[in-house]
Amino acid sequence: MQATQTPYDILILGASGFTGKYVVREALKFINAPSSPLKSLALAGRSTNKLAQTLQWAAYPSPPPSIPILTADISDPPSLHRLCSQTKLVLNCVGPYRLFGEPVAAACANSGCDYLDICGEPEFMERMEAEYHEKAVKTGSLLVSACGFDSIPAELGLMFNSRQWKSPAVPNRVEAYVSLESDKRIVGNFGTYESAVLGVANAQKLQELRRSRPKRARPLIPGSPPPRGPMIEHQKKIGLSAVKLPSADATVVRRTLSVLTENPGGFPGANESSEAKEKREAFWSTVKPAHFGVKIGAKSLLGIYRFIIVGRFIGFLSGSAFGRWLLLKFPSFFSLGFFRKKGPSEDEVKSAAFKMWFVGHGYSNSNLVSRGDSKPDMEIITRVSGPEIAYLTTPIILVQCALILLCQRENLPHGGVFPPGIVFGATDLQHRLHENGISFDVISRSVLSP
Ligand SMILES: NC(=O)c1ccc[n+]([C@@H]2O[C@H](COP(=O)([O-])OP(=O)(O)OC[C@H]3O[C@@H](n4cnc5c(N)ncnc54)[C@H](OP(=O)(O)O)[C@@H]3O)[C@@H](O)[C@H]2O)c1
Repeated sequence: MQATQTPYDILILGASGFTGKYVVREALKFINAPSSPLKSLALAGRSTNKLAQTLQWAAYPSPPPSIPILTADISDPPSLHRLCSQTKLVLNCVGPYRLFGEPVAAACANSGCDYLDICGEPEFMERMEAEYHEKAVKTGSLLVSACGFDSIPAELGLMFNSRQWKSPAVPNRVEAYVSLESDKRIVGNFGTYESAVLGVANAQKLQELRRSRPKRARPLIPGSPPPRGPMIEHQKKIGLSAVKLPSADATVVRRTLSVLTENPGGFPGANESSEAKEKREAFWSTVKPAHFGVKIGAKSLLGIYRFIIVGRFIGFLSGSAFGRWLLLKFPSFFSLGFFRKKGPSEDEVKSAAFKMWFVGHGYSNSNLVSRGDSKPDMEIITRVSGPEIAYLTTPIILVQCALILLCQRENLPHGGVFPPGIVFGATDLQHRLHENGISFDVISRSVLSP
């Protein structure tokens, strides 16, 4: 943890990027606002010109506030160390993280300042944990990836569902179904597409990394693992057809559940009061682990076939250098219009929204599990919903995580590399998201016929 005399509370690195500029816009809402812990903000990146334009865009229609602009380049580690010595917290919006993330995480871990990012790349996250956890524990730097749509709705959404299972009821599995909605086109920027393509291309490296690491603790989940099921599922209750979504969410949630298995009361805060300790332990005692998976849903089969075709293009072509070149040269064509070099227009962003349904199956009484052959007899459906995922929801989440770091740092782990759920689960993040337009609702509870 940095001493409090560092000039900036938050520094946004990669602020000139497509997502970065929306993060700046979100952060400006809180600077010097009443009761906001955010008193000083700086922007950083390679080009002062672009950063000045970002500030102008983000502040519009107000004139750009006077916010310091600092230059730094990922390929110049001393420039990153200079940034870290000037801030309590870096929000890293420079991706793909597999290409650009490590020097930033390393600079934060070495200097002791905190670090959050919006990465959705499991290999990067797990590699940073392997490489920098020990160092970060020593320096008191808290490094948390996936503080965006990847993977906070999944992490908090699973916890929210699992906490609805009041004893003696227990969940066995929760399947999340993401549904994207808009009356305009749903479009993502090239940066996310490139991160996804490179992630699929390097899937083997993630497996190698996992094989080289100690086995993670497995949570004790009542009942058998869920059956595989068909490739396309028709979820009548929520009116969606769905296919597996190979996003980071399931792997991030599994990491959190594994950490929780080893630390059933969560992690002690760096300097928490006995009241905060009691609250934290009480929270985690209500979170029950469950098998977890994520699917992407659409109202029509045609929508599902579009997802499958894009997945096949990326899966098939990302394996060779020429295939990757084709995918990255013609993003719009190979993503069937889901991604564009220039990203979505502001209108497209404004008109989009998401719903993430959590369909939980479990047992009305944990005694049923010991009978061996018994199937789940209870279903609880919950939902997380909010605005457009990448440029509205992600900045809201990232900025709220940052504000929690600023005002509740004593209740968070001293230092280390962690998945977001275990760090923010027991804080007021869910409440903060709710207040900023991302809601958590219980939809139904029902008894399943045998
Ligand atoms: N978690 C989520 O749900 C979520 C949502 C949205 C985005 N993301 C992720 O966020 C990342 C960024 O996406 P994006 O669409 O915003 O990409 P982008 O528009 O390409 O922005 C990339 C940013 O990185 C900066 N950068 C690149 N190379 C750099 C270097 N050598 N030194 C310093 N800065 C450098 C760029 O600076 P210049 O302006 O100088 O080029 C730009 O500011 C991607 O990995 C994406 O997957 C995640």
